[in-house]
Amino acid sequence: MTEFATLTIDGKTLELPILIGTEGERAIDIRTLRQETGFITYDPGYGSTGCCKSEITFMDGEKGILRYRGIPIEQLAEHSSFVETSYLLLHGRLPSREELTRTSVMLNDQSLVHEDMQIFYQNFPRGSHPMGILSAMVNALRSFYPELMADDEGFEITFLRLLSKVRTMAAMSYKISRGHKVVYPRPDYTYCANFLNMMFDTPVKPYVLDKDMVKALNVFWILHGDHEQNCSTATVRTVGSARANIYASLSAGISALWGPLHGGANQKVIEMLTQIHREGLGISEVIANAKDKNNPFRLMGFGHRVYKTYDPRAKIMKQMCDTVLPKLEIHDPLLDIAKALEEIALSDSYFIDHNLYPNVDFYSGILLRAMGIPTSMFTVMFAIGRLPGWIAQWKENLDDPEQRICRPRQIYMGRNANDYVPFNDR
Ligand code: CMC
Repeated sequence: MTEFATLTIDGKTLELPILIGTEGERAIDIRTLRQETGFITYDPGYGSTGCCKSEITFMDGEKGILRYRGIPIEQLAEHSSFVETSYLLLHGRLPSREELTRTSVMLNDQSLVHEDMQIFYQNFPRGSHPMGILSAMVNALRSFYPELMADDEGFEITFLRLLSKVRTMAAMSYKISRGHKVVYPRPDYTYCANFLNMMFDTPVKPYVLDKDMVKALNVFWILHGDHEQNCSTATVRTVGSARANIYASLSAGISALWGPLHGGANQKVIEMLTQIHREGLGISEVIANAKDKNNPFRLMGFGHRVYKTYDPRAKIMKQMCDTVLPKLEIHDPLLDIAKALEEIALSDSYFIDHNLYPNVDFYSGILLRAMGIPTSMFTVMFAIGRLPGWIAQWKENLDDPEQRICRPRQIYMGRNANDYVPFNDR
């Protein structure tokens, strides 16, 4: 039975339905508010606003829970592969063995990128940020693959095409940026192994696959698979709500992700840790700067809109650093600095009172460094991992009959009506 919240305003009483999610989250359905009362709600940053009903990802920020289609992220990181998790995100259930094999075969079939796209890469100015290039290239894919996805099969092919080609394009752009020959995908390699090979194989030094590295990359991408209505996903949904094509919608999501408060934080964390290392800054000095309201500096990789406790992805990422780096016999001083920062921050009253804990980006860059991924490509790595989530969310939005074009309102605080004044009278 539907419950109602009662709102009394201007002497009028409104009964607003209460929606209850499967995990007990509650929302007041205010869709009739403006029509019935003339009022709108005010919520910059949408901290108290739900924009959709979704069946994809569940987060409990107070308890540090993250589940894709009901399955805890810890279990997926331990047992699943990125391809299997991508299937789960899109289809809502784990694949059978046959379905997974078919998906892997189709990913290989879709892995080549039109040769003409290489020309684009070659002509971007040297030093262009890889996220700007990725956003442009994903939008350009629409021109190379203009077929419309008329049915579920068409959508499946578009999904696999994007997942496979964006990975190839990322490795390709790295090779071209270094002036090296592009390495093509191999049909005998898995999704993650292929990426590492395309990145690091050279005619003078053939790349030798390392199973720990392949596992680490699978986990890295699984952890980034989806995160419900974050800035980039909300962007993808918003652009898609105008019935823009999926390539344009993802391109916009990539641009949102680039921001340092969002996915771009993984690059900023490493730049921050490198600066502390290079300049020999004291940890307490850095913490003091992060607390100082007159200083714009923030501790990158800390804090989250939803998590008010340790981000479960950061926990796994830290464990990965602790197991993968020793196996590879890598000692990264930045890991020591990160741990020292975390220890001091977590015992500091400012961080405790503000519920500021490490988020996914705090340790992810250290893992990527160990894999040999250049810092400027860190956010591209995040974007590849987020593709299945963005695509699943875009499709869910399109299929939801309650969704309309996104069009928030505003409260106008500008000048009241005044007349145009000709130049000579100003
Ligand atoms: N260092 C120092 N103080 C902070 C930090 C930080 N990293 N993050 C938040 N605060 C303080 C902030 O100054 C504010 O203090 P007060 O209430 O005294 O004015 C309070 O905490 C709340 O901050 P907010 O900016 O209102 O919180 P938000 O929910 O709007 O922003 C955030 C969340 C992630 C943008 C923010 O915590 C931040 O800027 N963190 C650093 C960037 C970062 O690591 N981003 C990656 C997020 S996880 C990856 C992903 O995007 O999914």
